Amino acid sequence: MTQPILETRKLGMVYRGHRDVAALTDVSFTLHRGRALALVGESGSGKSTCAKILTRMVTATGGQILFDGKDVTRPGNRREVLAYRSQVQMVFQDPFAALNPAHDVRHHLSRPLALHKPELGRGEREDRAVELSMMVGLDPVETLGKYPHELSGGQRQRVNLARAMAVDPSVLIADEPTSMLDVSIRLTILDMFKPLKRDRGIAMLYITHDIATARYVAEETAVIYGGRIVEIGPTSAIIDAPRHPYTRLLLAAVPEIGRPFGATDASLVREADRVREISREPGRLSEVAPGHLVRECSASHI
Ligand SMILES: Nc1ncnc2c1ncn2[C@@H]1O[C@H](COP(=O)(O)OP(=O)(O)OP(=O)(O)O)[C@@H](O)[C@H]1O
Ligand SMILES: [Mg+2]
Repeated sequence: MTQPILETRKLGMVYRGHRDVAALTDVSFTLHRGRALALVGESGSGKSTCAKILTRMVTATGGQILFDGKDVTRPGNRREVLAYRSQVQMVFQDPFAALNPAHDVRHHLSRPLALHKPELGRGEREDRAVELSMMVGLDPVETLGKYPHELSGGQRQRVNLARAMAVDPSVLIADEPTSMLDVSIRLTILDMFKPLKRDRGIAMLYITHDIATARYVAEETAVIYGGRIVEIGPTSAIIDAPRHPYTRLLLAAVPEIGRPFGATDASLVREADRVREISREPGRLSEVAPGHLVRECSASHI
């Protein structure tokens, strides 16, 4: 495979406090142009911490980040940080909180251009705002002059996506982009990621607690628990032939994925606490099939 655009090597994060929290331990994965990796796990597993490190909102306490083969682990000077940020953009979970109620859509789409592409004139910024709104399925004539409160949740998330795309990033990180939206429109939002990957070669990290949507968005999936990746590989293998008990537990909780509750799954759900306990073990990641890695744990019989 080609060189990854973004790579983490044994990324670690310990939040220091009166009680230290090891939010991430030895997290390694790669993001490739035109492809998506789903990072799946329940609340508190470390998903947002990972997003925050990759977007430079916090600095990792261990490990390395490579962007296009270059070590970018330590934040550089202001110019370097700005350049990196324009390449790695983020879409947040809460579409309303991410937008400033005092500004219209035009402002939200033009502002990143003013910051990252100061060479563009006012007319060019307007053209780009029109193009961006059309890219996310919003009518520019109707939408550019509107304020966040005049938009539906789905429309707001489209504006957030357009804003993230404004500076032509190569990596998009979406942290639970649909979990606050009405169920009926979630797929239409997820659908917008496909052309970004296909036509613009965007590499994507899709963060979700809903393993069923991984298949819809991502070629690869990493399952994370307690800050450690317990299983990573092609999404089809993870969903159709899961190996780690924790992955199977997540899947057992999703009836609509088309996997009938088998005897194994029922006992898994009964033993959920035990599954979580063994999933915290720092076992070795071993390759069970090409590109499919599973963390060894003490209860392969579950
Ligand atoms: N700023 C912080 N200071 C201290 N601990 C933190 C901080 N941010 C997160 N944590 C802790 O780190 C762990 C991972 O949190 P994180 O927000 O990354 O999880 P998450 O997988 O995104 O969860 P959710 O699905 O609820 O968004 C949790 O135990 C959390 O309490
Ligand atoms: Mg989170």
